[in-house]
Amino acid sequence: MKGIVDSRDILYLDGISKEFSSVRVLDQITFGIREGEVMGLIGENGAGKSTLIKIICGIYQPTEGQVLLNGELVDIPDYITGKKLGIGIVPQEFNLINSLTVYENIFLGNEIHKGLLLDKKLMRLKAREQLDRLKMPVDVDKLVSDLSVAEKQMVEISKAMILDARILIFDEPTTTLTGHEVEILFDLMRNLREKGVTMVFVSHKLHEVKTICDRVTVFRDGKLISVDDIAEVDEHDLARKMVGRDFSQVFPPKLKRAENTVILEVGHFCIANLLKDVSFTLRKGEILGFAGLVGAGRTETMEALMGLRRLEKGTVLLNGEIVKIKNARDAVDHKLGYISEDRQGKGIVQGFDIPKNISLISLPDKYVRHGFIDKAAEDLSANHYIDEFKVVAASKKMELKYFSGGNQQKVYLARWMDTEPQILILDEPTRGIDINAKREIYEFIHALAESGISCILISSEMEEIIGLCSRVYVMKEGHIADCLEGDEITEENIMFNATGIKKGN
Ligand SMILES: Nc1ncnc2c1ncn2[C@@H]1O[C@H](COP(=O)(O)OP(=O)(O)OP(=O)(O)O)[C@@H](O)[C@H]1O
Ligand SMILES: [Mg+2]
Repeated sequence: MKGIVDSRDILYLDGISKEFSSVRVLDQITFGIREGEVMGLIGENGAGKSTLIKIICGIYQPTEGQVLLNGELVDIPDYITGKKLGIGIVPQEFNLINSLTVYENIFLGNEIHKGLLLDKKLMRLKAREQLDRLKMPVDVDKLVSDLSVAEKQMVEISKAMILDARILIFDEPTTTLTGHEVEILFDLMRNLREKGVTMVFVSHKLHEVKTICDRVTVFRDGKLISVDDIAEVDEHDLARKMVGRDFSQVFPPKLKRAENTVILEVGHFCIANLLKDVSFTLRKGEILGFAGLVGAGRTETMEALMGLRRLEKGTVLLNGEIVKIKNARDAVDHKLGYISEDRQGKGIVQGFDIPKNISLISLPDKYVRHGFIDKAAEDLSANHYIDEFKVVAASKKMELKYFSGGNQQKVYLARWMDTEPQILILDEPTRGIDINAKREIYEFIHALAESGISCILISSEMEEIIGLCSRVYVMKEGHIADCLEGDEITEENIMFNATGIKKGN
């Protein structure tokens, strides 16, 4: 045994290493997790957090090392055994089945029976109770395919919660949630902690880790760097430990005022119950923000612009000319790009490798010669993007599902850059991205705008909007509440317009 098991530890990881095709992604990890604590797990994209969690749950087997539960060696050969031992997980990538309803998903694999039949009534009731605890009014009979990403996240949390696990692991549960929903989740976690449930919490948002965790472990390149009481470290210390050097300014300096040339004019977008007379302008080379609460209509506006939603009314003027964008192909032809907030559902193809993911849209225009796909050109271009976005991958030929969340996002970004857009819409582009990669993405958006490409940034992270945008439209309940510019872009003004509530009230 390499460490000493503390009697307070419910779980003890003893010299855990993991290799995938002889690439070592976890190296001799030894530490304990105490009963009834919330243990934070942080580290850059690809540091090995999800891999370690999957070992704890039995989804992966360690190459070396062992797991002790209550001081006893345990073998967790599969996920079902993990579940039986009282270990539950809210996975980073959703594991929901779109064609099933909310309650069917929550009870999948744990169905309640009444005699030989399924007790649907009881399952519906229990699912309802669980969602109520998360203050999620979503209908339990709704199909998961019809849910927003935030709702899907809450269903995934409910699915883990109904197991009454002793150890509950949350792998980045807050990436798709807004501040209000995060607070609800944290209240629930505090409640569980009072009941003695042990939790592991992974997040790239250091202020969340500071808020909810009792202790925090930092990982870097598959190695355990530190375990600290949360009171003893501040966000700056944590960032430094993660990155391995001092870390300062996150946002590049604001762009000088963009040119006045209006490149895009959206007029009177209307969709019943979703959008009410949404109009806005976009100037050449600016970073235009869209703020608002979840469900305010920001994503719907952009999907309508991209031809992905049918409008009841509305016009689009591109470079002063009326254009009709009826589908995604029209949008691409007009040089519009859209990084969707739903990376897994509408973004990357899990079963494709990096080159195929990147060339997905640009293939017919750039990589087909004489009726054949020019593989060499496709590979060359993939290499270029891997360098540019610093994608960490053992091999570019690996299917995307094996990549860490942050690296998947970079590949998705690369796909749209390969279409050479004039307007790039980025919907929550830094979700699940570590602080270092975030800064890279901010610098990238900045450089795009400087080169004359107009960017629209939808973000629920206030500091991103304030740090990057020259103008901000704030949406509320399907309409534009206000457009803020320059010094008017403050947290207070954004919140007031998004909620109608003044700070302090
Ligand atoms: N099944 C697999 N096959 C091959 N490589 C894998 C597999 N699963 C993970 N990896 C690799 O292991 C490394 C660690 O990945 P992991 O998903 O644990 O990172 P992470 O810390 O959770 O990152 P993120 O913050 O982006 O979610 C990455 O380089 C990843 O590509
Ligand atoms: Mg992960």
